[in-house]
Amino acid sequence: MVNGWQHLSGSVDSVFFFIMAICIALLAGVTGVMLYFVVRYSRKRNPHPVDVADNLALEIFWTVVPTLLVLVIFWGGWKGFQYMRTVPPDAMLVKVTGRMWSWSFEYENGKRSTVLNVPLQRPVKLAITSADVLHSLFIPAYRIKEDAVPGLETYLWFLPDEIGTYDLFCTEYCGAGHSAMITKVAVLSPKAFEQWYKTEEESDGSKPHLSEGAELLQEKGCIACHSLDGSAKVGPTFKGLFGRKETVVAAGKDRTITVDEEYILRSIKDPAADITKGFPPIMPAIPMSDDEMREIVEHLKTLK
Ligand code: CUA
Repeated sequence: MVNGWQHLSGSVDSVFFFIMAICIALLAGVTGVMLYFVVRYSRKRNPHPVDVADNLALEIFWTVVPTLLVLVIFWGGWKGFQYMRTVPPDAMLVKVTGRMWSWSFEYENGKRSTVLNVPLQRPVKLAITSADVLHSLFIPAYRIKEDAVPGLETYLWFLPDEIGTYDLFCTEYCGAGHSAMITKVAVLSPKAFEQWYKTEEESDGSKPHLSEGAELLQEKGCIACHSLDGSAKVGPTFKGLFGRKETVVAAGKDRTITVDEEYILRSIKDPAADITKGFPPIMPAIPMSDDEMREIVEHLKTLK
């Protein structure tokens, strides 16, 4: 607990287990009564049907008790919901963009990352949007989930209260690369976070430094669909791409081309123009500046 703020999992889990306990009790009760009735009111024991009058006490009981139960569930859920929607004023802001098919995070100082690095014990506010279709951001360890909607900013907050890495992924089907929209929340010590936050280039400390082109391939989500090691994913591999002969399909006709700068630039700007044979025409147009495209082309040339 920090400044009166605590982890959400406690209140979410208690409502969950409360509902679970009610469900188990009702299942056992209904099944038990059903089995008893089958025996007690069988035709053998009751050859002649009898008219059963209403029972006021029983009707009051089965109206009042479930009403109280759902009110308790509502009260627990409402408390958790209010807590979730009330962002502490000292929260650190991180802008989150979901796109087909990756997440990117931008910090207040302009730093960008593909992993959500956060310092221990400081509330984090995520301002979420999408660059293309509906996505949904989910961090199961913190019990938080929110839609990423194009043209709209939604938000979430959480308190990182334990050092470690936790899954963060898309939980709304958004196309062929949906399952690739997975990354990590890394909760760092305040010191380690400061160090990372102040360094110029994106690096989590463990990986070797990447060239700008390689970083862009990650940041723009390219490698969700294009492998770097020669294996086929949703799209053709980037390994050995430059100078490769490819059969492409345009307007229903096959054509053989050699992958050059012009082809790569066109494929980024207008992915539907020349589709590599054997792959589905599903690549989204990815907004990029001319500089960014140049960096990517230069990097692709090096992937032999
Ligand atoms: Cu984004 Cu599923």
